[in-house]
Amino acid sequence: MNLAIIGTGYVGLPTGVGFAELGHRVVCIDKIPQKIDDLNNGKITLFEDGLEELFDKNRKNGNIRFTTDMSAVRDADFVIIAVGTPPHPVTKEADMKYIHAAADELAQYLSGYTVIATKSTVPVGTGDDVERIIREKNPTARFDAISMPEFLREGFAVHDFFHPDRIVVGTESEQARAKVRELYDVFPDKPNILFVTRKSAELIKYASNAFLAVKIHYINEIADFCERVGANVYDVARGMGLDSRIGNRFLNPGPGYGGSCFPKDTNALAYMARKEGVDLSLVEATIAGNDARKSKMATRILDVVKDIPNPKIAVWGLAFKDGTDDVRESPAVQIISELVSRNADVTAYDPKATETARAILGDAIKYASSAAAAAESADVVAVLTEWPEFKDMDLGKIAKLMRNRNIIDCRNMIDSRQAAENNFVCKGIGK
Ligand code: UGA
Repeated sequence: MNLAIIGTGYVGLPTGVGFAELGHRVVCIDKIPQKIDDLNNGKITLFEDGLEELFDKNRKNGNIRFTTDMSAVRDADFVIIAVGTPPHPVTKEADMKYIHAAADELAQYLSGYTVIATKSTVPVGTGDDVERIIREKNPTARFDAISMPEFLREGFAVHDFFHPDRIVVGTESEQARAKVRELYDVFPDKPNILFVTRKSAELIKYASNAFLAVKIHYINEIADFCERVGANVYDVARGMGLDSRIGNRFLNPGPGYGGSCFPKDTNALAYMARKEGVDLSLVEATIAGNDARKSKMATRILDVVKDIPNPKIAVWGLAFKDGTDDVRESPAVQIISELVSRNADVTAYDPKATETARAILGDAIKYASSAAAAAESADVVAVLTEWPEFKDMDLGKIAKLMRNRNIIDCRNMIDSRQAAENNFVCKGIGK
């Protein structure tokens, strides 16, 4: 099958590479010439575990190519739109300008029957807009505009691509449904495809992300309660998770959820509901609670050093979670910004996200080349991202480097026995 993918970001690139690996012929289209040059020269433009190897292989064998030229959709049986839908700075509604522009631009090149699938997370009703825009531009085009939301997690995009829990497809067209089946027929383990209406598919994406955000915020609030009453949130989460109706995943307490999806999508869903006069108070409370949590974490860090003159704070982790260099809406970056606004002296280390964080935080903080270097003469280490290397840290060595032995472990990664043996005061979340 000939596949065109518009947008080479965290969704488009792994999706394109994945379908190429499974034997489809893929062309990826992006407006940014530098990105396309890099990709054509074999330089991958984002970090995703396992992606580079598949990218190299399929670029070399010609299964995937890259261009800025939208006319490449001419040969495609299936077009996937995977462009950004950034939040409006004030209203937080999803900005549709890139989706609309893509639909408008591709319309003129359609030849033969084509499925146009929107994979970007888009407000309910966007499929209607895409259809209208294409129809207006090219009244004789034969196509179906369908919704096909993606559920890839950053850092696990390659794994999730090949092992999806489900493929959600919004279309009532039998012809489009047959094309979707053909697209996924190349998977060795045939994925579970759920066909629904276009609007339901668009909402499934928002409803899923908002539900997961609520789940995380719920366990964070339970963690706060555990701290107050002397319970352990891990015991509580384990006990809850054994109930198959609740499930044991996404019950890890932390500094609040971040990333390019949950904050954006909860806000966009809340905006849509408000506009429709529907009460989504649970989602609204989650957004407010999650925002407030970053500031509470900053206070928690500053509290341990409040009696130390000119305290030095070491931060381990800048990415919004491990396995990625992405710092969009990263709790770590937001907590650091709050610390800096309260005049703190911060040195941070992250194995992958130093440069992306530097683009936001600039020289407001110092950057270290290792966790140990960040801890040098610090009065507290704050663990803000769950990179596995922080779990295996030699705390005996770290202790000798520090001025005072405090750890605020917002990801519950530090071995409390090792911390106690090395005379650290170590405070985790919910225990
Ligand atoms: C999320 C969803 O998990 C994907 O299914 C979805 O496709 C994607 O958004 C998207 O809409 O594109 P992602 O943002 O990559 O994926 O990251 P997650 O692994 O879901 O983590 C999001 C945030 O929640 C992170 O800050 C993470 O640290 C936090 N989290 C997650 C917790 O604090 N506790 C948990 O138990 C799980």
